[in-house]
Amino acid sequence: MKNIREVKDLKGKRVLLRLDLNIPIKGGIVFNDFRIKKVLPTINFLKEEGAKIIIISHIGREKTETLLPVLNYFQKIMEIGLIKDVLSNDADSFVNNMKDGDVVMMENLRQHDGEKNNDESFSKQIARLGDIYVNEAFANSHREHASIVGVPKFLPSYSGILFQEEIKMLSESFKPENPFLFIIGGNKLKTKLSLIEKMLNIADNVFVGGALANDFFKEKGRNVGKSYV
Ligand code: 3PG
Repeated sequence: MKNIREVKDLKGKRVLLRLDLNIPIKGGIVFNDFRIKKVLPTINFLKEEGAKIIIISHIGREKTETLLPVLNYFQKIMEIGLIKDVLSNDADSFVNNMKDGDVVMMENLRQHDGEKNNDESFSKQIARLGDIYVNEAFANSHREHASIVGVPKFLPSYSGILFQEEIKMLSESFKPENPFLFIIGGNKLKTKLSLIEKMLNIADNVFVGGALANDFFKEKGRNVGKSYV
């Protein structure tokens, strides 16, 4: 997949920017803004190029969850609108009225079953709002969901700036110079186990931290109390 930096004429183009804004919220407030900070260069790049930026993302796993706290965070650092429902006519009129460099955020796509089901008509509905698609959601790209694998079937698609960097770093780690220590954290062992297994054959040591470590402690028969497993 080509990188968005290679695209020459982004001025006036409606860019569907798939971010991973699945970030911790506490009391309705963004609790950890790491993922937001990492994608700001991509948003700023697109703004400077004069694209119209339509941010699409998910948060959580329940249909009731909302990206509004994330939108509030963004509103403190840039002008940004909200599209409440991708399927509504309001979405079309909002996008039609966007000026070059404008940014809008779409409410949590997982509020629609079509997202997780990778429903083709849902993907087409998302795609109707954009001229091109950019995947800047590396951490979500293992999901066969509409906004990850469905929309690119209908639009010219590119990887984001951070996405390319993540592929580069991960690829380098498969052919490392030794000694090589691999450190991994997170909280979903299921999606990381195959990588850990691969790294056991490559790295001199694999360190597992964060909530992932709890699964190993539990497996070894240790008491993990109320910790996330
Ligand atoms: C993440 O936070 O790891 C990604 O956004 C994936 O979230 P999911 O496991 O709910 O698909």
